[in-house]
Amino acid sequence: MKYQIKDYLRHHGFVGQTLTVQGWVRTKRESKNVNFIALNDGSTINNLQVVAEAGVISDDILKLVTTGSAIAATGVLVDSQGAGQSVELKVESIEVYGTADPDLYPLQPKRHSLEFLREIAHLRPRTNTFSAVFRVRHALAFAVHKYFSDNGFFYWNSPIITGSDAEGAGEMFRVTTLDPKNPPLNEDGSINYKEDFFGKETNLTVSGQLEGELAALGLGKIYTFGPTFRAENSNTTRHLAEFWMIEPEMAFFELEDNMALAEDFVQYVIKYALENCQDDLAFLEKRLLEEEKNKPQNERSPMPLLEKLQFVVENEFERLTYTKAIEILLQSKPHKEKKFQYPVEWGIDLQSEHERYLVEKHFKKPVILTHYPRAIKAFYMKQEVDRPEDKGPTVRAMDVLFPGIGEMIGGSQREDNLEKLVARMEEVGIDPQSMDWFLDTRRFGSAPHSGFGLGFERLIQFVTGMGNIRDVIPFPRFPKSAEF
Ligand code: 4AD
Ligand code: MG
Repeated sequence: MKYQIKDYLRHHGFVGQTLTVQGWVRTKRESKNVNFIALNDGSTINNLQVVAEAGVISDDILKLVTTGSAIAATGVLVDSQGAGQSVELKVESIEVYGTADPDLYPLQPKRHSLEFLREIAHLRPRTNTFSAVFRVRHALAFAVHKYFSDNGFFYWNSPIITGSDAEGAGEMFRVTTLDPKNPPLNEDGSINYKEDFFGKETNLTVSGQLEGELAALGLGKIYTFGPTFRAENSNTTRHLAEFWMIEPEMAFFELEDNMALAEDFVQYVIKYALENCQDDLAFLEKRLLEEEKNKPQNERSPMPLLEKLQFVVENEFERLTYTKAIEILLQSKPHKEKKFQYPVEWGIDLQSEHERYLVEKHFKKPVILTHYPRAIKAFYMKQEVDRPEDKGPTVRAMDVLFPGIGEMIGGSQREDNLEKLVARMEEVGIDPQSMDWFLDTRRFGSAPHSGFGLGFERLIQFVTGMGNIRDVIPFPRFPKSAEF
């Protein structure tokens, strides 16, 4: 395997060897006829300093070595004289692969706003911030697979094109090959989907859960990790139209087991990032401090990034019921002073301001809320027996809320009783016949089971400290935007 800059910087054994290093020029500066080139090949946040002593490289070549150009530098790796790096390359020759005209290349060595960089997302992998974010993204994805595989889960692939609406929320992108100008019609004037590609209405999946349940009730423990689509018109820093979701589903798990798994899993992947992305996270911590300098004190993160991550890894998540959470909100200062935009009462769907109050102000740590009102949750959640402590019918649901993020995980124990499930479907207007395949799991060998979905980009936001979800996915899709 070819070595990369991260290898040269890490292993002192390369010192004294003649090497060829390939990468993109971050900066070039000249001091007393010596040129210092900061070279980066994407393998690490750290640059290799390439030193061109006076007269070694011709001016014709040096002229082409500008920010953004791609070069190969050959020379001897030596212990560095200067501060800031342990080794540097004393260059003997440079080959320029591709120039980057300084008058045209948008990424110059200065601070660019994240908004500007979003417009040139095709060049974001060339920047320090985004290369760090995407290396962390990779590490987290790897940790997800490692965690589940090490713990006896099988990677399961639910379909991306489906005929079902798993969440029953109807926020779906249609998949069709019908001619929009001239679709085949039924006698009553409605579109005849029997003539469509699949012979029925289909859409991009909003969740792989339902097909995941089929697998769990045979394979035992499975997880999905794939793209998920929601056509909700949400222009927020936490919503994407295309995002990646991780959905474990486990037979014989009840709500308590589900919570324990969610906590252990999140702590594991964050710990993995802390151990394997030290340089990138240190860089991102500094970036965040810099960004927050201009914000008022009360909008800044209460802890530096690494301390925050360490805290989450080391401390148990708070567990409480929705009913208890409502009580806390009713007792809260913002409620009493009428500072919440949305009123608080038992039965409401918690708004992000309520969730943030609970995790950021009240508990100051991740919180698992359980036993939500039946009326505001999906049809498949297990109906709880009536309990005096709740104020109405609830389901065995759990949402995991994170500081600065809000809902990171949504999940539940599943309704495994056929009659109850069918009754609930009818109540909310889902035709049981259309999901007969799903109901077969409850007809034959039904068993208690549970699962949850974690929004991968929200996890990356938390770990990297990036404020906008559009900055943690390579090519964000959101209302009115599907560039690249
Ligand atoms: O709470 P949600 O809608 O739950 C489900 O889809 C269940 N079927 C999961 C399950 O039990 N298997 O979504 C799960 C998570 C949310 O907590 C959130 O982190 C993320 O997916 N999410 C989004 N992330 C980015 N953009 C969006 N538009 C998102 N919608 C949900
Ligand atoms: Mg949810």
